[in-house]
Amino acid sequence: MHLYGTANINEIGHLEIGGVDTVTLAKKYGTPLYVYDVALIRKRARAFKKTFESMGVKAQVAYASKAFSTIAMIQLVEEEGLSLDVVSGGELFTAIKAEFPSERIHFHGNNKSESELLMALDYHVGCIVVDNFHELYLLAQLCEQRKQEVKVLLRVTPGIEAHTHDYILTGQEDSKFGFDLQNGQAEDALTYAIQNQYLDVLGLHCHIGSQIFETTGFKLAAKKLLEKLAEWNESLLFEASVLNLGGGFGIRYTDEDAPLSPESYVVEMIDEVRIETERLGLALPEIWIEPGRSMVGDAGTTLYSVGSQKDVPNIRKYLAVDGGMTDNLRPALYDAKYEAILANRANEKTTETVAIAGKCCESGDMLIWDLPLPEAAPNDILAVFCTGAYGYSMSNNYNRIPRPPVVFVENGTSQLVVKRESYEDLLRLDLSYVEKSQV
Ligand SMILES: Cc1ncc(COP(=O)(O)O)c(C=O)c1O
Repeated sequence: MHLYGTANINEIGHLEIGGVDTVTLAKKYGTPLYVYDVALIRKRARAFKKTFESMGVKAQVAYASKAFSTIAMIQLVEEEGLSLDVVSGGELFTAIKAEFPSERIHFHGNNKSESELLMALDYHVGCIVVDNFHELYLLAQLCEQRKQEVKVLLRVTPGIEAHTHDYILTGQEDSKFGFDLQNGQAEDALTYAIQNQYLDVLGLHCHIGSQIFETTGFKLAAKKLLEKLAEWNESLLFEASVLNLGGGFGIRYTDEDAPLSPESYVVEMIDEVRIETERLGLALPEIWIEPGRSMVGDAGTTLYSVGSQKDVPNIRKYLAVDGGMTDNLRPALYDAKYEAILANRANEKTTETVAIAGKCCESGDMLIWDLPLPEAAPNDILAVFCTGAYGYSMSNNYNRIPRPPVVFVENGTSQLVVKRESYEDLLRLDLSYVEKSQV
C-alpha cells in the first residue's frame, strides 16, 4: 500500500489524513467526499518555488487551476505566494472572488470570447497568453478601444508532444493550441504583436503534454523556443523576458508510474535554459511554469461508501460505490488507473480482486477494474487515492447526481470548503414549461 503526504494508518486501523480519521470524516460529511491534504499541497508549492530560488533564477510558479479550482484552493495558492493560471471566465471569476492578486494571474485558452477578454482587461490580469490570430487581433482591437496596455505571452507549439514515457517529435504539431513555431505562424504573430503599442510581449509559452515522467521533452522544447528567440533577436530585435514552459509534471497514481520529484524537473529545465541562452548569446529570461496535477493530484483522496455487489462467477466481482464517473471522469475518459483501500479496515489483508463500479447508468462507469481488497461489505469506506487533480474540476451531474463536497484537512482538523450539492441545487436553473398559449 502506497500512502501519500500525511496519510497513515492509525492505531484502530483507519486511514488518517492530515491527522484526521477518514472514517470520522465520512460520518461527519457523508460520502462521496473529496478530502485534500493541505500540508502536501503546501509542500509541493514550496518545493517548486524553493528550487527556483536556490538556483538564483527569476521565476513564476503558476498553479494551473484547471486541475482544481475553488475559492479555498485559490486562497491557499495565494497564501503560498504562487501565481495562477486560469483558462476561462469561470476560473477567472473564481480567482476574482478569492481576491487573488490580479497581477499574478495568467489567462489561457484557445477560444477566449470577447467578454472573457474584457473581463481579463477589467481585472488587469498580469498576462494574457495569446493562442491564435483571432484572439490576437481581437485583443489588439479591445486594447486600442480602451487605450489599455496588456502584457502578453504567445503560446507556440514547438513540435514536441510528450506523454508519460514517450515524447514525439513532429515537424508541425497537430494541436488545437497555439501558433506553430515551424511554419512561420508564430513569427507572423510576434511581428504583429510587437508592432502594436498596446501589446507588451513578454515572451513565449508552450505546454508539451501531461503526466510526463522525464525531462527530455521539456529540455527539447526550451531549446527549440530559445533557438527561435535567438533568430528573432536578430531579425525582429525582439528580446524575451519570459519563457513559460507550461505544466505536465507526472505524478504517481499506481506502481506503473515513476515520477521525478518536482525539484528534478525544475533543476534540469533551468540547466538547459542556462546552457542554451549562453550558447545563443541571449539574456537569461524569467522561467515560468504551470503545474496543475503535480500540485494537487496526490493530495486528494475520495471517500465512498460501498453498496451493492454483483458476482459474475469465473469472471469478476463488481463492488458498487455511491459515486463514479460523476465525481471522477478520468477512468471513463482516459482509462486512468487508481489505487484504493478500505479506509475503515486498512490493516486487513487483501483476499480478493474486485472491480469498483460507479452508480451511473453507463457500463463504462468503472473506477477501478482490478483492485485487491479484503472482502468488503456494504457501508465499508473505500478511499481512492490521487483524485486531487481533474476530479472535482471535471465533476458533473450525469444522472442528476449531486456533486460531493470538498474538505480540507490539516494538523488534525477538517474544514468544509465546498458544500455538497443538494437536489434543489440541481434544479436551480430549471424553469417550468409553460404552454405557448399561456405565455
Ligand atoms: C497550458 C497548460 N498549462 C498547464 C497545464 C497543467 O498541466 P498539468 O496538470 O499536467 O500539470 C495544462 C493542462 O492541460 C495546460 O494546458
